[in-house]
Amino acid sequence: MIILETDRLLLRHLEPDDLDDLFALYCDPDMRRYIPDAPRTLAETREQLAWFENGHPRHPELGLWATIHKETNRFIGRCGLLPWTIDGRFEVEVAYMIAKTHWGQGLGTEAAQGIRDYGFESLGLARLICLIDHDNQASIRVAEKIGMAFEKEGRDEIGPFLLYAVQKNGSLATGRNV
Ligand SMILES: CC(C)(COP(=O)(O)OP(=O)(O)OC[C@H]1O[C@@H](n2cnc3c(N)ncnc32)[C@H](O)[C@@H]1OP(=O)(O)O)[C@@H](O)C(=O)NCCC(=O)NCCS
Repeated sequence: MIILETDRLLLRHLEPDDLDDLFALYCDPDMRRYIPDAPRTLAETREQLAWFENGHPRHPELGLWATIHKETNRFIGRCGLLPWTIDGRFEVEVAYMIAKTHWGQGLGTEAAQGIRDYGFESLGLARLICLIDHDNQASIRVAEKIGMAFEKEGRDEIGPFLLYAVQKNGSLATGRNV
């Protein structure tokens, strides 16, 4: 199922045939440097793919989606929207991961912008966040480029993170459960 399109990208539900491409993405140490909890093995990747095949099981409108380069029809990343509870508050994170072969072409920003607009306009979310490692400058830049600002530091079982956030229309809305 297609979720959204941008000029150069198409985002759709993950499918079983994406397994090798998704695993290849996770095998790249540069890809997982700031995402240490990403699947490590083919079996873990298969498990994650099955989990997200119809969207997030508890929030089917959210999930990690295959990110396809329209010009070549190639799988070049996995991006999406993920639900979290942080400090007792329901939050939705814009997640992005683009294959190294396609870095530096504005595709991470383009995917994140498309997902932000989809979250606000199609899903009616009032607030979106990014959880980012302190040292992940590329991700911080993408978050800033889609209008997010640093809000606070936090820590979970994986380690410390920076929380960036953007409100729909720049309002001070407090978010809404989906
Ligand atoms: C984050 C990521 C998606 C960015 O993808 P991308 O397609 O290269 O990003 P863009 O081309 O849209 O670049 C976005 C901005 O980041 C900047 N940038 C990219 N890499 C950078 C780096 N290593 N250090 C500093 N800035 C960087 C770019 O210059 C650009 O800013 P500018 O327009 O002001 O020049 C990609 O690096 C990635 O997949 N990383 C691994 C997974 C990951 O860490 N995801 C985020 C988890 S929170």
